[in-house]
Amino acid sequence: MNAITIDGPAASGKSSVGFEVARRLDFLFFDTGILYRAVTWAVLQQGIDVADIEAVGQVAERTRIDITAPESQQRDGRQVTVTVDDKDVTWAVRTPRVDQNVSTVAANRLVRQTLGVQQRRIGLRHGSGAGGKAGVVMMGRDIGTVILPEAPLKIYLDAPVDERARRRGQELAARGRETDIARILEDMRRRDEVDSGRAIAPLRPADDAHLIQTFGLSIPQVVEKIVLLAQTHLELGQARPLDLTAPQEGTGALQE
Ligand code: CDP
Repeated sequence: MNAITIDGPAASGKSSVGFEVARRLDFLFFDTGILYRAVTWAVLQQGIDVADIEAVGQVAERTRIDITAPESQQRDGRQVTVTVDDKDVTWAVRTPRVDQNVSTVAANRLVRQTLGVQQRRIGLRHGSGAGGKAGVVMMGRDIGTVILPEAPLKIYLDAPVDERARRRGQELAARGRETDIARILEDMRRRDEVDSGRAIAPLRPADDAHLIQTFGLSIPQVVEKIVLLAQTHLELGQARPLDLTAPQEGTGALQE
């Protein structure tokens, strides 16, 4: 099975690193946090109380979330395009309001059940090569521990929380959004606490995960470490040699 799991706390670099690893290996890029964010956005949009287990669980069941490669007119820095019931919510799922509520939604057992089944199905299909890609890179909190524990390469990315808050602030500033670092830091601490402390599928490294501290490392340096590990842990085969060229845009997105 050609599957790489990348878990870790908020803004530890999972998406940027995972996107580039997927491009280099011609693997599907699947950022599972998007699903939790999309359900959270739908819950808030419908004015439902995020703490209402049953009502939120129903939203997860009935919401149609699609993640596709961006089209040429959509090149605004996005890695993928996210739609909820055909509405483009790519940036709407990244607002501070979603950040503040997503951990509560993600701790909901009904939500995890619904989204977990979908994630495992997609992971197994693309990990076996049946989805048209050479494998899959899946990012999240519980991918190595719960969703795809049989994955042959598991990574856990980490960095100090103030460094992660700084990175998130930079990302938001690049999109012209609020950059109150003190508030971002506080929100991030709370989210890490809820994600690590929840009863179901808490954030933690799998026993056989490779831990990478990303503080002081550039994205290409972290990518390089993972691609090297992939060469020894996965069956990359002759048919799909590693692409060692410079980054290009818009490949490797989730196409379901
Ligand atoms: O981008 P960032 O690291 O800030 O967060 P994300 O990966 O988009 O995930 C948003 C939230 O979804 C997390 O804080 C978790 O509460 C939840 N999540 C989860 O519970 N399990 C996953 N596999 C992925 C995300």
